[in-house]
Amino acid sequence: MYLNFYGLTEKPFNPTPDPRFLYMSPGHREALAQLLYGVQERKGFIVLTGQVGTGKTTLVHALRQRLNGQTAVAFVFNSTLPFDGILEYALQDLGVPKAGESRAQQLIALNNFLVERERAGQNTVLILDEAQNLDASTLEQVRLLSNFETPTSKLLQIVLVGQPELKARLQIPELQQLRQRVGLRSQIAPLTAAEARTYIRTRLRIAGSRDLGLFSDPAVDRIVEYSGGIPRLINVVCDHCLLFGYADQKRRIDRQIVGQAVEYLEEGTQPRRRPRRSRAASGPARARWIVGTLAVATATAAVALALRFDTTVLGLMQSVRGLLSP
Ligand SMILES: Nc1ncnc2c1ncn2[C@@H]1O[C@H](COP(=O)(O)OP(=O)(O)OP(=O)(O)O)[C@@H](O)[C@H]1O
Ligand SMILES: [Mg+2]
Repeated sequence: MYLNFYGLTEKPFNPTPDPRFLYMSPGHREALAQLLYGVQERKGFIVLTGQVGTGKTTLVHALRQRLNGQTAVAFVFNSTLPFDGILEYALQDLGVPKAGESRAQQLIALNNFLVERERAGQNTVLILDEAQNLDASTLEQVRLLSNFETPTSKLLQIVLVGQPELKARLQIPELQQLRQRVGLRSQIAPLTAAEARTYIRTRLRIAGSRDLGLFSDPAVDRIVEYSGGIPRLINVVCDHCLLFGYADQKRRIDRQIVGQAVEYLEEGTQPRRRPRRSRAASGPARARWIVGTLAVATATAAVALALRFDTTVLGLMQSVRGLLSP
Protein backbone atom coordinates (compact mmCIF):
# COMPACT_ATOMS: atom_id res chain seq x y z
CA MET A 1 0.00 0.00 0.00
CA TYR A 2 2.82 2.45 0.77
CA LEU A 3 5.21 1.04 -1.84
CA ASN A 4 4.47 3.52 -4.64
CA PHE A 5 4.37 6.46 -2.27
CA TYR A 6 7.89 5.73 -1.01
CA GLY A 7 9.26 4.50 -4.34
CA LEU A 8 9.79 0.93 -3.11
CA THR A 9 9.61 -2.18 -5.24
CA GLU A 10 8.81 -4.44 -2.28
CA LYS A 11 8.24 -4.21 1.45
CA PRO A 12 11.56 -3.51 3.15
CA PHE A 13 10.68 -4.68 6.64
CA ASN A 14 8.92 -7.99 6.22
CA PRO A 15 9.03 -10.24 9.28
CA THR A 16 10.25 -13.26 7.28
CA PRO A 17 13.85 -14.57 7.58
CA ASP A 18 14.62 -13.79 3.93
CA PRO A 19 18.40 -14.09 3.32
CA ARG A 20 18.11 -11.71 0.35
CA PHE A 21 17.75 -8.94 2.93
CA LEU A 22 20.69 -10.11 4.99
CA TYR A 23 22.70 -7.30 6.49
CA MET A 24 26.07 -8.59 7.55
CA SER A 25 26.75 -6.83 10.83
CA PRO A 26 30.18 -7.72 12.18
CA GLY A 27 28.44 -10.09 14.61
CA HIS A 28 26.35 -11.80 11.93
CA ARG A 29 29.38 -12.06 9.67
CA GLU A 30 31.44 -13.70 12.37
CA ALA A 31 28.68 -16.11 13.35
CA LEU A 32 28.15 -17.15 9.73
CA ALA A 33 31.89 -17.66 9.23
CA GLN A 34 32.00 -19.81 12.36
CA LEU A 35 29.06 -21.92 11.20
CA LEU A 36 30.65 -22.44 7.80
CA TYR A 37 33.93 -23.35 9.42
CA GLY A 38 32.25 -25.76 11.85
CA VAL A 39 30.40 -27.54 9.07
CA GLN A 40 33.33 -27.69 6.66
CA GLU A 41 35.74 -28.83 9.36
CA ARG A 42 33.21 -31.45 10.48
CA LYS A 43 33.04 -30.32 14.06
CA GLY A 44 30.10 -32.63 14.83
CA PHE A 45 27.82 -30.56 17.07
CA ILE A 46 27.63 -26.80 16.49
CA VAL A 47 25.48 -24.54 18.68
CA LEU A 48 24.20 -21.12 17.60
CA THR A 49 22.35 -19.02 20.18
CA GLY A 50 20.94 -15.51 20.33
CA GLN A 51 18.05 -13.59 21.83
CA VAL A 52 14.59 -13.71 20.26
CA GLY A 53 14.57 -11.97 16.89
CA THR A 54 18.31 -11.40 16.53
CA GLY A 55 18.54 -13.20 13.18
CA LYS A 56 19.38 -16.85 13.90
CA THR A 57 16.96 -18.35 11.38
CA THR A 58 17.94 -15.76 8.77
CA LEU A 59 21.55 -16.70 9.30
CA VAL A 60 21.00 -20.44 8.89
CA HIS A 61 19.12 -19.78 5.66
CA ALA A 62 22.20 -17.88 4.54
CA LEU A 63 24.38 -20.78 5.70
CA ARG A 64 22.30 -23.16 3.63
CA GLN A 65 22.78 -20.96 0.57
CA ARG A 66 26.51 -20.74 1.09
CA LEU A 67 27.15 -24.44 1.56
CA ASN A 68 27.97 -25.35 -1.98
CA GLY A 69 26.82 -28.44 -3.87
CA GLN A 70 29.24 -30.52 -1.81
CA THR A 71 26.95 -30.45 1.23
CA ALA A 72 23.48 -31.93 1.69
CA VAL A 73 21.38 -29.99 4.19
CA ALA A 74 18.32 -31.04 6.18
CA PHE A 75 16.64 -28.09 7.87
CA VAL A 76 14.14 -28.99 10.58
CA PHE A 77 12.40 -25.90 11.92
CA ASN A 78 9.52 -27.58 13.74
CA SER A 79 10.85 -28.09 17.23
CA THR A 80 7.64 -29.65 18.52
CA LEU A 81 8.37 -32.87 16.60
CA PRO A 82 9.37 -35.95 18.58
CA PHE A 83 12.64 -37.61 17.60
CA ASP A 84 10.97 -39.95 15.09
CA GLY A 85 9.35 -36.95 13.41
CA ILE A 86 12.70 -35.17 13.21
CA LEU A 87 14.28 -38.25 11.67
CA GLU A 88 11.52 -38.68 9.11
CA TYR A 89 11.58 -34.98 8.23
CA ALA A 90 15.37 -34.98 7.86
CA LEU A 91 15.33 -38.03 5.57
CA GLN A 92 12.73 -36.42 3.37
CA ASP A 93 14.65 -33.13 3.23
CA LEU A 94 17.82 -35.00 2.28
CA GLY A 95 15.95 -36.74 -0.50
CA VAL A 96 16.39 -40.24 0.93
CA PRO A 97 13.71 -42.48 -0.62
CA LYS A 98 11.06 -43.76 1.80
CA ALA A 99 13.05 -46.02 4.03
CA GLY A 100 10.36 -48.03 5.83
CA GLU A 101 8.31 -47.41 8.90
CA SER A 102 10.48 -48.55 11.79
CA ARG A 103 13.09 -46.37 13.43
CA ALA A 104 15.73 -49.01 12.73
CA GLN A 105 14.93 -48.98 9.00
CA GLN A 106 15.11 -45.21 8.94
CA LEU A 107 18.44 -45.12 10.78
CA ILE A 108 19.85 -47.72 8.38
CA ALA A 109 18.70 -45.61 5.42
CA LEU A 110 20.33 -42.52 6.93
CA ASN A 111 23.54 -44.43 7.58
CA ASN A 112 23.66 -45.68 3.98
CA PHE A 113 23.04 -42.18 2.68
CA LEU A 114 25.81 -40.71 4.85
CA VAL A 115 28.29 -43.39 3.83
CA GLU A 116 27.50 -42.80 0.14
CA ARG A 117 27.98 -39.08 0.57
CA GLU A 118 31.27 -39.66 2.34
CA ARG A 119 32.50 -41.91 -0.47
CA ALA A 120 31.65 -39.15 -2.93
CA GLY A 121 33.69 -36.70 -0.81
CA GLN A 122 30.59 -34.88 0.35
CA ASN A 123 29.32 -33.65 3.68
CA THR A 124 25.87 -33.72 5.32
CA VAL A 125 24.35 -31.24 7.77
CA LEU A 126 21.27 -31.41 9.96
CA ILE A 127 20.06 -28.01 11.20
CA LEU A 128 17.59 -28.00 14.09
CA ASP A 129 16.05 -24.56 14.56
CA GLU A 130 14.31 -23.46 17.77
CA ALA A 131 16.21 -26.22 19.53
CA GLN A 132 15.53 -24.60 22.90
CA ASN A 133 12.12 -26.28 22.69
CA LEU A 134 13.47 -29.80 22.28
CA ASP A 135 13.18 -31.81 25.46
CA ALA A 136 16.16 -33.53 27.00
CA SER A 137 15.25 -37.00 25.75
CA THR A 138 14.85 -35.78 22.16
CA LEU A 139 18.18 -33.97 22.36
CA GLU A 140 19.79 -37.11 23.72
CA GLN A 141 18.45 -39.11 20.77
CA VAL A 142 19.72 -36.43 18.38
CA ARG A 143 23.08 -36.86 20.07
CA LEU A 144 23.08 -40.50 19.03
CA LEU A 145 22.91 -39.38 15.38
CA SER A 146 26.38 -37.95 15.80
CA ASN A 147 27.63 -41.50 16.26
CA PHE A 148 27.54 -41.92 12.50
CA GLU A 149 31.25 -41.54 11.93
CA THR A 150 34.32 -43.07 10.42
CA PRO A 151 37.48 -43.49 12.48
CA THR A 152 38.60 -40.13 11.14
CA SER A 153 35.57 -37.92 10.64
CA LYS A 154 31.96 -37.20 11.54
CA LEU A 155 29.54 -38.14 8.77
CA LEU A 156 26.77 -35.87 10.01
CA GLN A 157 27.23 -32.31 11.27
CA ILE A 158 24.42 -31.17 13.54
CA VAL A 159 23.70 -27.46 14.04
CA LEU A 160 21.51 -26.66 17.05
CA VAL A 161 20.00 -23.19 16.79
CA GLY A 162 18.10 -21.59 19.63
CA GLN A 163 17.41 -18.87 22.13
CA PRO A 164 19.66 -18.49 25.18
CA GLU A 165 17.61 -21.13 27.06
CA LEU A 166 19.28 -23.68 24.78
CA LYS A 167 22.59 -23.00 26.50
CA ALA A 168 20.96 -23.56 29.86
CA ARG A 169 19.27 -26.73 28.62
CA LEU A 170 22.62 -28.14 27.54
CA GLN A 171 23.94 -27.66 31.05
CA ILE A 172 21.64 -30.26 32.63
CA PRO A 173 23.38 -33.47 33.78
CA GLU A 174 21.36 -35.73 31.43
CA LEU A 175 22.89 -33.92 28.45
CA GLN A 176 26.47 -34.11 29.59
CA GLN A 177 27.41 -36.41 26.71
CA LEU A 178 25.94 -34.05 24.15
CA ARG A 179 27.60 -31.06 25.83
CA GLN A 180 30.98 -32.73 25.58
CA ARG A 181 30.49 -33.24 21.86
CA VAL A 182 29.84 -29.60 21.02
CA GLY A 183 32.74 -28.70 18.76
CA LEU A 184 31.84 -25.07 18.20
CA ARG A 185 29.63 -22.46 19.85
CA SER A 186 28.53 -19.24 18.23
CA GLN A 187 26.38 -16.38 19.41
CA ILE A 188 24.53 -13.45 17.85
CA ALA A 189 24.14 -10.20 19.80
CA PRO A 190 21.63 -7.39 19.15
CA LEU A 191 22.82 -4.67 16.74
CA THR A 192 24.66 -1.64 18.04
CA ALA A 193 23.16 1.78 17.32
CA ALA A 194 25.45 2.32 14.32
CA GLU A 195 24.72 -1.15 12.96
CA ALA A 196 20.98 -0.68 13.37
CA ARG A 197 21.23 2.51 11.27
CA THR A 198 23.05 0.65 8.51
CA TYR A 199 20.59 -2.24 8.84
CA ILE A 200 17.65 0.07 8.08
CA ARG A 201 19.41 1.63 5.12
CA THR A 202 20.44 -1.79 3.78
CA ARG A 203 16.90 -3.11 3.84
CA LEU A 204 15.61 0.06 2.18
CA ARG A 205 18.21 -0.27 -0.57
CA ILE A 206 17.36 -3.92 -1.24
CA ALA A 207 13.67 -2.99 -1.39
CA GLY A 208 14.45 -0.55 -4.19
CA SER A 209 14.46 2.77 -2.29
CA ARG A 210 16.40 5.59 -3.90
CA ASP A 211 16.17 7.63 -0.70
CA LEU A 212 18.23 5.81 1.90
CA GLY A 213 17.62 8.71 4.27
CA LEU A 214 13.91 8.00 4.25
CA PHE A 215 14.08 7.74 8.03
CA SER A 216 15.53 10.93 9.53
CA ASP A 217 18.44 10.60 11.96
CA PRO A 218 16.32 11.46 15.02
CA ALA A 219 13.75 8.91 13.82
CA VAL A 220 16.42 6.24 13.62
CA ASP A 221 17.65 7.19 17.11
CA ARG A 222 14.17 6.58 18.46
CA ILE A 223 13.83 3.26 16.59
CA VAL A 224 17.17 2.12 17.97
CA GLU A 225 16.17 3.15 21.46
CA TYR A 226 12.86 1.31 21.24
CA SER A 227 14.16 -1.85 19.60
CA GLY A 228 17.33 -2.31 21.64
CA GLY A 229 18.98 -3.33 18.36
CA ILE A 230 16.79 -6.44 17.87
CA PRO A 231 16.27 -6.76 14.10
CA ARG A 232 12.74 -8.18 14.33
CA LEU A 233 11.62 -5.25 16.49
CA ILE A 234 13.32 -2.80 14.13
CA ASN A 235 11.34 -4.37 11.27
CA VAL A 236 8.05 -4.19 13.12
CA VAL A 237 8.44 -0.56 14.12
CA CYS A 238 9.83 0.55 10.73
CA ASP A 239 6.95 -1.11 8.88
CA HIS A 240 4.47 0.65 11.13
CA CYS A 241 6.29 3.94 10.58
CA LEU A 242 5.87 3.57 6.82
CA LEU A 243 2.17 2.88 7.28
CA PHE A 244 1.71 5.90 9.55
CA GLY A 245 3.87 8.07 7.32
CA TYR A 246 1.83 7.08 4.30
CA ALA A 247 -1.40 7.78 6.15
CA ASP A 248 -0.07 11.26 6.97
CA GLN A 249 1.38 11.63 3.44
CA LYS A 250 4.82 12.37 4.88
CA ARG A 251 7.68 11.82 2.47
CA ARG A 252 10.17 11.45 5.31
CA ILE A 253 9.76 9.45 8.49
CA ASP A 254 10.50 11.77 11.37
CA ARG A 255 10.77 11.15 15.07
CA GLN A 256 7.16 12.07 15.65
CA ILE A 257 5.95 9.30 13.32
CA VAL A 258 8.16 6.82 15.14
CA GLY A 259 6.63 8.02 18.40
CA GLN A 260 3.16 7.29 17.02
CA ALA A 261 4.19 3.85 15.82
CA VAL A 262 5.80 2.98 19.14
CA GLU A 263 2.77 4.21 21.03
CA TYR A 264 0.54 2.13 18.80
CA LEU A 265 2.68 -0.98 19.25
CA GLU A 266 2.90 -0.58 23.01
CA GLU A 267 -0.61 0.57 23.78
CA GLY A 268 -2.64 -0.18 20.67
CA THR A 269 -3.67 3.47 20.38
CA GLN A 270 -4.96 4.74 17.06
CA PRO A 271 -2.77 6.99 14.90
CA ARG A 272 -3.38 10.70 15.42
CA ARG A 273 -3.59 13.03 12.48
CA ARG A 274 -2.42 16.14 14.29
CA PRO A 275 1.28 16.61 14.96
CA ARG A 276 2.08 16.55 18.62
CA ARG A 277 5.13 16.48 20.80
CA SER A 278 6.45 12.99 21.15
CA ARG A 279 6.63 11.76 24.70
CA ALA A 280 9.97 10.25 23.90
CA ALA A 281 11.48 13.32 22.27
CA SER A 282 13.12 14.60 25.42
CA GLY A 283 16.65 13.71 26.47
CA PRO A 284 19.53 12.53 24.36
CA ALA A 285 18.72 9.25 22.67
CA ARG A 286 22.28 8.02 22.75
CA ALA A 287 22.49 8.37 26.52
CA ARG A 288 19.41 6.26 26.90
CA TRP A 289 20.88 3.71 24.50
CA ILE A 290 23.99 3.45 26.63
CA VAL A 291 22.01 3.03 29.80
CA GLY A 292 20.77 -0.09 28.07
CA THR A 293 17.92 -0.88 30.40
CA LEU A 294 15.59 -0.91 27.45
CA ALA A 295 17.41 -3.91 26.05
CA VAL A 296 15.78 -6.15 28.62
CA ALA A 297 12.35 -4.62 28.13
CA THR A 298 12.52 -4.88 24.36
CA ALA A 299 13.69 -8.47 24.46
CA THR A 300 10.49 -9.25 26.33
CA ALA A 301 8.48 -7.08 23.97
CA ALA A 302 9.98 -8.95 21.03
CA VAL A 303 8.22 -12.10 22.10
CA ALA A 304 4.94 -10.30 22.54
CA LEU A 305 5.29 -8.46 19.26
CA ALA A 306 6.27 -11.56 17.36
CA LEU A 307 3.12 -13.20 18.61
CA ARG A 308 0.74 -10.36 17.88
CA PHE A 309 2.42 -8.97 14.78
CA ASP A 310 -0.15 -10.20 12.30
CA THR A 311 -3.12 -8.92 14.23
CA THR A 312 -1.34 -5.64 14.90
CA VAL A 313 -0.71 -5.04 11.21
CA LEU A 314 -4.24 -6.01 10.31
CA GLY A 315 -5.62 -3.61 12.90
CA LEU A 316 -3.31 -0.88 11.75
CA MET A 317 -4.22 -1.36 8.10
CA GLN A 318 -7.85 -0.93 9.04
CA SER A 319 -6.97 2.25 10.92
CA VAL A 320 -5.04 3.60 7.96
CA ARG A 321 -7.85 2.74 5.58
CA GLY A 322 -10.25 4.54 7.89
CA LEU A 323 -8.01 7.59 7.95
CA LEU A 324 -7.69 7.74 4.19
CA SER A 325 -11.32 7.28 3.40
CA PRO A 326 -13.12 10.59 2.80
N1 LIG B 1 21.36 -9.68 9.79
C1 LIG B 1 20.11 -9.49 9.36
N2 LIG B 1 19.89 -8.94 8.15
C2 LIG B 1 18.64 -8.73 7.69
N3 LIG B 1 17.54 -9.04 8.36
C3 LIG B 1 17.69 -9.60 9.57
C4 LIG B 1 18.97 -9.86 10.13
N4 LIG B 1 18.81 -10.40 11.34
C5 LIG B 1 17.50 -10.49 11.53
N5 LIG B 1 16.82 -10.00 10.47
C6 LIG B 1 15.37 -9.91 10.33
O1 LIG B 1 14.80 -9.89 11.63
C7 LIG B 1 13.67 -10.74 11.69
C8 LIG B 1 13.89 -11.81 12.73
O2 LIG B 1 14.94 -12.65 12.29
P1 LIG B 1 14.96 -14.22 12.58
O3 LIG B 1 13.60 -14.81 12.41
O4 LIG B 1 16.08 -14.78 11.81
O5 LIG B 1 15.32 -14.17 14.13
P2 LIG B 1 15.51 -15.38 15.13
O6 LIG B 1 16.73 -15.07 15.92
O7 LIG B 1 15.50 -16.66 14.38
O8 LIG B 1 14.24 -15.23 16.05
P3 LIG B 1 13.55 -16.34 17.00
O9 LIG B 1 14.39 -16.39 18.25
O10 LIG B 1 12.18 -15.81 17.27
O11 LIG B 1 13.54 -17.65 16.26
C9 LIG B 1 13.45 -11.27 10.28
O12 LIG B 1 12.54 -10.45 9.62
C10 LIG B 1 14.80 -11.13 9.64
O13 LIG B 1 14.69 -10.93 8.26
MG1 LIG C 1 14.23 -18.28 14.46
